[in-house]
Amino acid sequence: MRPVVNRLPVLCAALGLVLLAGASGAATAADAASAAEPNTQVPAGANWYAPRGMPDRIVASPLQDAASGFAVAWRTDASVQAPMLEVVVAGDSPDMGVPRELQAQTTPLRTENGLAHQHRVEVDGLQADTLYAWRVQGDRTWSAWHHTRTGGTAEQPLTLLYFGDTQNKNLSLGTRVLREGMRHAPDARLALFAGDLVSGGDGEDDNEWGEWFAANGALPTSMLVAPAPGNHEYFEEFEDTPQERRVLGTHWPHVFALPGNGAPGVAGTSYWFDIQDVRVVVLDGTSALDLGTARAQAKWLDEVLAGNPRRWSIALIHQPLFSPRQDRDNVELRRHVLPVLEKRRVDLVLQGHDHVYGRRGGLAPGRATPQYLVSVAGAKQYRLSPQARQDMAPVGEDTQLFQVVRIDGGQLRYESRTATGRLYDAFLLRQGHGGDRQLEEVTEGRIEPRDCARAATLKGRTDRCWE
Ligand SMILES: [Fe+2]
Repeated sequence: MRPVVNRLPVLCAALGLVLLAGASGAATAADAASAAEPNTQVPAGANWYAPRGMPDRIVASPLQDAASGFAVAWRTDASVQAPMLEVVVAGDSPDMGVPRELQAQTTPLRTENGLAHQHRVEVDGLQADTLYAWRVQGDRTWSAWHHTRTGGTAEQPLTLLYFGDTQNKNLSLGTRVLREGMRHAPDARLALFAGDLVSGGDGEDDNEWGEWFAANGALPTSMLVAPAPGNHEYFEEFEDTPQERRVLGTHWPHVFALPGNGAPGVAGTSYWFDIQDVRVVVLDGTSALDLGTARAQAKWLDEVLAGNPRRWSIALIHQPLFSPRQDRDNVELRRHVLPVLEKRRVDLVLQGHDHVYGRRGGLAPGRATPQYLVSVAGAKQYRLSPQARQDMAPVGEDTQLFQVVRIDGGQLRYESRTATGRLYDAFLLRQGHGGDRQLEEVTEGRIEPRDCARAATLKGRTDRCWE
């Protein structure tokens, strides 16, 4: 049940502003717009995101080898047990032939919106660079046919999207960023997410997951989704006691069908996969920092990258190696994971968590890689530390962003764009001799760096820029 009391101050504040505004309609609208918004658009007592017989929350993710297939997760109500997924080579005729049928594994998931059944299928043994049509079963019904193209050869160009934390107000303010990302990269095969997809932790995270999927629209069924877990995908057990510890939330293991090939003891939340000429390695920063697995993940990362036959490599981790926010320093990541990223010269280290933007190179002077990037897609905005303003460029506050990465042979082009699609940051990496990279900054067309112009958030917090 959603706690009504939490929203009363907001409603009262908005009402007070309306009364003070008197007869001025324009002032009323402005004041209403300046009231802090709740985290979801779901009114108290509504169950808009209750599971039904119709399949929803459908999301495709890569197998370890994205050329050989993909995996799909979806949700229904509890009337559906072990439903089917149908897959066939996509054709121009509505008669696409007899599909292959695969039966799902079903897991119950109890939430504030009722009992759901989460389903998962691995679609393997597919041909590379082939467009497949697939659909998933519900109660006496089917989803739409969705299209997914398997990974192609190393020589083929690849476009991918990156989104920093979405986390808050996913439907209200996340939607526009996700849509702008798809508009700028309609050819993207893959979307990487930094983690903290939802805020959770207050017993209403199922509504937040509902909003996350609503905000994403067609994205999770038209490209592969690869998320990192953030700290908000965990909750605190035995909070404020000596036994306090992080426990993975109940949604994460069932909402996505991920490869499960991660570090020992972290297999459900760390993983890797290859797509065309890129190896992507996803780390669990929360487990590394709070559950003592930094060393084990670093060792695993080293092994995964040591055997990398691909030209490019990308690491995805929620907590930054170089934190651009005041008073944050992820010491265990710097001690164990950073040396591996440097040694293996990972090209891009994509991070979130700090709700600002910042980019910097690595520790080796004159070396182009790794490029360490922190970004935020969602509404919550923090402030940069003075250190970040010295060490990173460009940096940014008070800006929702998405990233487009285009890889074509020996060139990688990175673009960071704002919620309205304006270019905020861009560079090229070119493969030199051996493993070396050359970095070329792209400054043409970039807008000016953005700083927070607010003294405090709507709730009066001076350490943040927006709720
Ligand atoms: Fe976070």
